[in-house]
Amino acid sequence: MEKLYTGVVRLVLHWRKFPSLRYRKLIRVAYHIINKKYSDYPERWLFMVTKDLTWQVATSVAPEGQAQIWELRGLDPSPEETWDHLRAFLHLDEDDLQAMLGTIEPLFQRGYDLIVENYAYLEAFPETAALLGWSGGADPQHLAERRRFFAVWLARTLGLDFSHDFARYLFRAGQVHAGHGRRRLHIPSLYVVGSIALMTAAFARILEQAEVRTDVQLRALAGWNKVFILHLQMMLQGYRSALALTEGEEKVKVTVYGRLRSLIGCDTLEIGFYSGQSVLEVLRKFFNYYPHARSETLEIVWESQHHDDARGNPWMEVERIYRPRAGWRVLRNGRDIAFMTEDQWRLEGADQVAIFPPGR
Ligand code: HEM
Repeated sequence: MEKLYTGVVRLVLHWRKFPSLRYRKLIRVAYHIINKKYSDYPERWLFMVTKDLTWQVATSVAPEGQAQIWELRGLDPSPEETWDHLRAFLHLDEDDLQAMLGTIEPLFQRGYDLIVENYAYLEAFPETAALLGWSGGADPQHLAERRRFFAVWLARTLGLDFSHDFARYLFRAGQVHAGHGRRRLHIPSLYVVGSIALMTAAFARILEQAEVRTDVQLRALAGWNKVFILHLQMMLQGYRSALALTEGEEKVKVTVYGRLRSLIGCDTLEIGFYSGQSVLEVLRKFFNYYPHARSETLEIVWESQHHDDARGNPWMEVERIYRPRAGWRVLRNGRDIAFMTEDQWRLEGADQVAIFPPGR
């Protein structure tokens, strides 16, 4: 053990010779383990080495003329990931589905009434009527449009649609509710949350009126409730990504090129930021709002972090980091950020950001 101990200390002291971060992390872990066994190990070494290694984990600044790889951390999970993860957490399983299947017919029969009643309620409730511009009565064309969208949602819901396409659809609906739709109407999340609760109540009422057996009713409603929560989470994630996109005291114009244009459906957009924020923050908002643009532009690198838990037991946390795919460049005012220092990434008022594919 003494040999290993000395070996690790030697490795740690010469960590600069190890170009790969992974090696340095291994050294750090080994160091921690040994340090636990040998409590007489000088604490100042631990401090010094940890400090050095932490410095290395931060983005390195490229020497003059040499590109550095920028990276994005802490991006939201994609809608598909949230969908699968929450569904697994909710344990929305075969038993739930079987119980729900037993109630689809009565619910389907009353589907049209449900849609009509839902909008009659939104028209009668003063605040939602005002939001929709229906205080003096619903605009027939807009009402028909809303009912159509709601009918599609209800049909997919009753059809037990668990596809990723539906996850993306709900995520987009959330963004639309944040004022990012064709009508630019902002529907505060409170009313969407409330509507989901009202749907649960409406389903319960319909099943009771249809005299579905009480035990079937109860099991089915438990399942429908899980489905509604799943839908709500997707809409809220989309809603938040839209609010974040415009948040900030200033706006930066972002122009995209190549296939990104068809993927996001536009060439330019404005993203909000607070003075002094980094261009990486703007990119984070962009890729949280357009998660489907990630696979085109970014690649995933997994990084493991080792920590001690409250009892001092070592445990590992894996973090997903996004880096630009080969050839993709981000320009701030015409200069590739890969050739800038972190300080130069800070944005100011009239800045422009461009995202370029390889070969342009
Ligand atoms: C169960 C809750 C709700 C669901 C599932 C839902 C679903 C949807 C969907 C799928 C869209 C269309 C998204 C698109 O254009 O692709 C949409 C848009 C819209 N929803 Fe909802 N919605 C809900 C609650 C509400 C509430 C409570 C209101 C109003 C108080 C509302 C008002 C609107 C408006 C105005 C739009 C269009 C906005 C625009 O085009 O600018 N929704 N909704």
